[in-house]
Amino acid sequence: MNNQSTSLRGWKLFGLIAALVVAMSATAIAIQPDLVEGLRSAVRATARSSFVLFLCAFTASAFAVLVPSPLSKALVRERRFIGLAFAFSHLVHAVLIYAYGQLNTEFWPARTVVNNIPGTTGYVLILLMALTSFKGPARLLGPKAWKTLHVTGMWIIAAVFAFSNFKRIPMSAWYVLPFGLICGAVAIRLVGKLAVANKRSQADVTAPSGQHRLMDRTYGQCRDRH
Ligand code: HEM
Repeated sequence: MNNQSTSLRGWKLFGLIAALVVAMSATAIAIQPDLVEGLRSAVRATARSSFVLFLCAFTASAFAVLVPSPLSKALVRERRFIGLAFAFSHLVHAVLIYAYGQLNTEFWPARTVVNNIPGTTGYVLILLMALTSFKGPARLLGPKAWKTLHVTGMWIIAAVFAFSNFKRIPMSAWYVLPFGLICGAVAIRLVGKLAVANKRSQADVTAPSGQHRLMDRTYGQCRDRH
């Protein structure tokens, strides 16, 4: 890792990503002559920034196992802040949706309760995961429930992204790209899990205690967090 990437970590990394999300949203609004259309393109832009951040957090541990490198290790190390930046980007998505709904009065009446179920479920999980990424709420929840929430939450949010992109394919073939990316990310995550299980069973046969300690150090963060 070079010096620049080592210093870009933790809250500094979060702050930079958050500032970029705000700047991107402001630009998306400013470059459209019509404010309503500007808000709509900013809604889309924040969905995309959230998607990129989610993909990084979702695949980080699998990449660290499958292709260990300074970058994949940094992704695992910074996953909490990438996850929080994802939550921030989706908070901006929500604020923009609210503003868009205020100006385009046909927006909410045109949506059914069923339309809003995946997105609302996604938001509830994002909120719970963001809150429990802090020590106090995490301790209140306990490690077992924490793990269930975060693992299940990641998979449900992945499903919401897959569905949100899939349903737009009839509108534009370009949505095949993000849909393919989320399917690829699911495959990478599953292969990563298989690789960990495989290495662990090999370690059981060869050098149980020492290898386990080494593997725990290498994969511990991945296993504990998601
Ligand atoms: C009730 C909550 C939500 C509402 C009302 C909502 C609303 C919207 C709207 C209005 C758009 C722009 C549509 C367009 O211009 O064609 C959009 C785009 C999108 N949203 Fe949300 N959203 C919600 C929650 C979520 C969640 C939780 C996720 C993912 C976890 C998500 C992912 C997306 C995606 C992937 C797009 C497409 C972006 C693109 O065009 O590339 N949304 N959403």
